[in-house]
Amino acid sequence: MANSINKNIYTKISILSLFLLLFPLVANSYNPDYNLAINCGSLTDNTALDKRIWVGDNINNKNLFTFIEPKTTNPSFNVQANSLSNIQVPYTHARVSLSNFTYSFSSITNSTVFLRLHFYPTSYQNFEPSSAIFSVKVNDLTLLKNFNPLLWLYFDDEKITKEYCIQIKPNEKLNITFIPNSINQSNPCYAFINGIEVVSMPSFLYYTNLNDPNYYLKPVDSEYTEYRIHKDKALEMVYRVNVGQNQVPPSDDTGMFRNWGNDFPLYLEKEYPSSVSSDFTHNLTYKNNVIPNYIAPEVVYLTARSYGMYETKDYNVTWNFEVDSAFTYMVRLHFCEFDWHINYKGDRVFQIFIDNTLVEEKADVIGWSGARMVPVHKDYVVSMEGLISQIERVYLSIKLQRLPQPMPTVYRDVILNGIEIFKISDKYNNLAGLNPNKHIILSSQKQKSKKSTVVIVGVSSLLLTFLAVGIIVLVRRTKRFESPIKMIESLWKTKNEGSSTLPSYLCRYFTIAEIRAATKNFDDENIIGVGGFGNVYKGFIDGSTPVAIKRLRSGSQQGANEFMNEIELLSQLRHIHLVSLVGYCNDKTEMILVYEFMQHGTLCEYLYGSNNQPLPWKQRLEILLGAARGLNYLHTEVKNKIIHRDVKSTNILLDEKWIAKVSDFGLSKVGPTGISTTHVSTIVKGSLGYLDPEYYMFQRLTLKSDVYSFGVVLLEVLCARPPLVRDLDKNTASLVCWFKRCYEEGVAIEQMVDPFLRDSITGECFEYFCKLALSCLHDDGIQRPSMSQVVGGLEFALQLVVSEEDCNVGTTQKEMTCIKGLRFSQSMSDEGSDPIQLEYYN
Ligand SMILES: *[C@@H]1O[C@H](CO)[C@@H](O)[C@H](O)[C@H]1NC(C)=O
Ligand SMILES: *[C@@H]1O[C@H](CO)[C@@H](O)[C@H](O)[C@H]1NC(C)=O
Ligand SMILES: *[C@@H]1O[C@H](CO)[C@@H](O)[C@H](O)[C@H]1NC(C)=O
Ligand SMILES: *[C@@H]1O[C@H](CO)[C@@H](O)[C@H](O)[C@H]1NC(C)=O
Ligand SMILES: *[C@@H]1O[C@H](CO)[C@@H](O)[C@H](O)[C@H]1NC(C)=O
Ligand SMILES: *[C@@H]1O[C@H](CO)[C@@H](O)[C@H](O)[C@H]1NC(C)=O
Repeated sequence: MANSINKNIYTKISILSLFLLLFPLVANSYNPDYNLAINCGSLTDNTALDKRIWVGDNINNKNLFTFIEPKTTNPSFNVQANSLSNIQVPYTHARVSLSNFTYSFSSITNSTVFLRLHFYPTSYQNFEPSSAIFSVKVNDLTLLKNFNPLLWLYFDDEKITKEYCIQIKPNEKLNITFIPNSINQSNPCYAFINGIEVVSMPSFLYYTNLNDPNYYLKPVDSEYTEYRIHKDKALEMVYRVNVGQNQVPPSDDTGMFRNWGNDFPLYLEKEYPSSVSSDFTHNLTYKNNVIPNYIAPEVVYLTARSYGMYETKDYNVTWNFEVDSAFTYMVRLHFCEFDWHINYKGDRVFQIFIDNTLVEEKADVIGWSGARMVPVHKDYVVSMEGLISQIERVYLSIKLQRLPQPMPTVYRDVILNGIEIFKISDKYNNLAGLNPNKHIILSSQKQKSKKSTVVIVGVSSLLLTFLAVGIIVLVRRTKRFESPIKMIESLWKTKNEGSSTLPSYLCRYFTIAEIRAATKNFDDENIIGVGGFGNVYKGFIDGSTPVAIKRLRSGSQQGANEFMNEIELLSQLRHIHLVSLVGYCNDKTEMILVYEFMQHGTLCEYLYGSNNQPLPWKQRLEILLGAARGLNYLHTEVKNKIIHRDVKSTNILLDEKWIAKVSDFGLSKVGPTGISTTHVSTIVKGSLGYLDPEYYMFQRLTLKSDVYSFGVVLLEVLCARPPLVRDLDKNTASLVCWFKRCYEEGVAIEQMVDPFLRDSITGECFEYFCKLALSCLHDDGIQRPSMSQVVGGLEFALQLVVSEEDCNVGTTQKEMTCIKGLRFSQSMSDEGSDPIQLEYYN
């Protein structure tokens, strides 16, 4: 029996090896013994992705694993994801159940493995993502408890992966059990899983080789002396980032399919001057037996961040990682010196703080590695204080400080190439902590002692979700409260009282004198815009940096507390397509926001009503795509989904490189907490001509209200006319009504689009763009695409333009490039991407 199982596994493994031949791995890689990737819920076998094969969890794979569930009235079932976005294996399918179920890998024993669990929280049939609350156990080890994947989404992500390192003992099998919470029968919880990976790993990649007496993790605090990670511990990878620029996807890892994320904008505190990369022309040298070459992909070591060698001010380059208190963490820092200025020990010496404790007084990469281009890593262990019964989400910070004067170094600069952070299982064999908080309040760092620089509002996110839903229901019934969100805000506020200034790293504080100096005492000549909130001035700070200064009209209903809340929220929103908040001023009578200055003004100014040279079609699409990405960030940045509420062409600004940035999300309040159909009911605000009909008729404000307004902007850009023209006759006054009618009647393109575009826009692109815009303008919000689908649609439209351009370059190459363009659009539709989906909305 056992033999036949093994044989089958070898067959599978040989399929995998064949696959590896087709997709050769990079030279420095590890070849895992087990490499199972399961597309849970899928009945079809063998889907290729990531240089490997994902197998379905159907009966045919019994030789790889067995699926066990108790005989219950609620057996598990397979479902296809309902979503229309471009999802890939393993997110296309899920196994869903209201009762316990187990995947048992009988052949995996006596080995150290990576276990990866993939979740895509969306609706599965009638199962809403908010009711997916469950635990996951591996044998006696608890990986997750009260886990709701929906609460784990960050920024633009729609899916999450949890990665664990687990040692399976010789007499054990790997059993993974999913246990739905059964707290309340009236609202039953369910468990689901989209993908499971089991990949073996080198024994001493993260675990300590006890035969090596010289290796131990350096303790950050005095609780431990020489910490070693024994095999009875399980690890949860909580963060793994390639410091510098690029994400390294699982397929580019060194054979273990690890994902290396970006450090910015999620963790790096702000954008520091320099992220550096080597010229990639020299190969790394691995000191054999000290660092195996599979420890991290080369690109991790060939990109880094430093600060700049010629800085005169002291600084800390800081990364903050949200973790659970009361656990112990392993922090691994990867270093490799590749800068050609640095040749000898002592050339670049700096300091490292972990959790605000000095762990390296004289960090010297060449001192550690012996030479340039030789990778090294340093491992630390840090215990986050706190009671196990009262776990909080706190920040674990990593700071690099240049060597303080007068300590000697040739170059006063810092460098770091990669960070990995692992949570270590506690004495109860548990790794489960809290779901991330919806709203983290940063307290001023100075008020706090050494530990936990972050204080978290004591309301657990789960409770908050229930609370929010509860309140919204209440409001719907009584219609007495103006904004449910206000109530939650006031809840937050009571916890936050007393902290009237924000940490300066989040947002700079300006005195009123500085603001007056910057704007020549609010001289009218400096006014560059007048908005619903008050005037906007151009000013210069620090002598020469141009900024836009928004002076909120006095008498604005916003109280000082709300203002601070707003700033706190805004200062945490960082995205290339959002106008960044530079700072604020909160004087007794003045509330002022300082934003980065946008040299090219508003998108509107390039459409109508000015003498600016009109922009070509491709550039217009690029600007729209940028703005859509900015809005998508607001909509999916999950800590608090944000409805912009006032999307319009004058709120899309252009910087000196013509990058589109969404501005004025000051109107935004905290959006609904769940993805479901909840909405915020509130007094109608926004701009005429852009308003979602559902919003002004039923005061139903949803993320789709922004999609509607953005649809109006799409038409504005295509037709170069304002959304409302008062003196035109009724039939043509509203851009949306006029356009919908023309489109239905089949009016010629030339009569609809901006005359300037007539020759440059092709029928195919026009048709596609119209469908996209009209789908956004659907009367029924639910039928409108999500902002991320709009992003996909615009990417496709832009691709149409690019392939058309390619087709037009030189006659010799013509055929080739046309074929390429064709292939591309072919492959787009193969994946069930937007061109097909759009049909759905019509
Ligand atoms: C599901 O698993 C949990 C934990 O192992 C157990 O307490 C519970 O009884 C199980 N439920 C069923 C229906 O087997
Ligand atoms: C794993 O599940 C199988 C099947 O239920 C069971 O026989 C075995 O004892 C389990 N192993 C462990 C370590 O729990
Ligand atoms: C478990 O694996 C280790 C190393 O791979 C080996 O030395 C040991 O004999 C194995 N134990 C059993 C019971 O198979
Ligand atoms: C389940 O929820 C209902 C209301 O949703 C509540 O009345 C009931 O007390 C809850 N039961 C338990 C066991 O918590
Ligand atoms: C780096 O390694 C690659 C492959 O091993 C080799 O082809 C190349 O010549 C090497 N480059 C240098 C500069 O040594
Ligand atoms: C850098 O951070 C450490 C630890 O919090 C602190 O002691 C030090 O003063 C900071 N340095 C600067 C320049 O802010």
